[in-house]
Amino acid sequence: MLRKADVDVRKKNVTPDQIPYSTIVRLTQYLRVVEKLDELGVSNISSAELSDETHINSFLVRKDLSYFGEFGTRGVGYEISVLKRELKSILGLVKRHKTVIVGAGNLGRALVHYSGFRDKGFDIVAIFDSSPEKIGASIEGFKIESVFVLEEYLKSNPDVTIGIIAVPAASAQFIANLLVANNIQGILSFAPIAINLPEDVVYAAVDLTTHLEIISYYITNPDARKSYSLRA
Ligand code: NAI
Repeated sequence: MLRKADVDVRKKNVTPDQIPYSTIVRLTQYLRVVEKLDELGVSNISSAELSDETHINSFLVRKDLSYFGEFGTRGVGYEISVLKRELKSILGLVKRHKTVIVGAGNLGRALVHYSGFRDKGFDIVAIFDSSPEKIGASIEGFKIESVFVLEEYLKSNPDVTIGIIAVPAASAQFIANLLVANNIQGILSFAPIAINLPEDVVYAAVDLTTHLEIISYYITNPDARKSYSLRA
């Protein structure tokens, strides 16, 4: 079925595969700002204001949004409610995404407690672990399930599409393989290791230590900060 975003992309003579990944990353930044302004009751925003709020060049703002059709009015800018609706539609956020977490350690537990995922449309529906001491315990009303029933769980719940990996690096590839063999289409991994996955699986890795290492470089080398301020 065609989404509105697909129709708009066709209208602009670009196919979804021609839209750069960096544009999709920036769309999430625009959405964050637009949601905040919507909550504050602001009704319109110009591309210059969106540029100020996101620290993204206004040319890029207009270029990114133009891939998806015309939401704005020259001289007036964008109507916040329309921009929010369209950004959510483009990002596939008009439906909710059922998500499982594997690893109920410090990080896995913190993720279950975080209400921000639910607010943005990502429902944590189950959490799994391999430790006999953790299996059966409760977090936020969830019983921690054994990883041995993960496969069976995913087979009986084919509407779960995202898996979050919060296990040690040594187990991450094994868990990723198990997830993708059972319909999971997108993986967010916190394990500090590169995971090999089939090309049709959407994979994002968050290694917080690399960010600290980058910060360390720039505070150790103040002369290099110009390149930091010019980062895309
Ligand atoms: P943790 O040791 O507290 O928790 C890991 C959990 O994974 C344990 O409960 C363990 O029983 C479970 N586990 C191990 N092998 C498993 C398997 N095969 N199947 C299912 N569960 C399994 O570790 P923590 O701190 O929660 O970190 C989790 C991952 O996130 C690690 O890869 C770590 O490097 C990474 N990470 C953690 C951060 C943090 O702030 N805690 C920050 C950045 C990354």
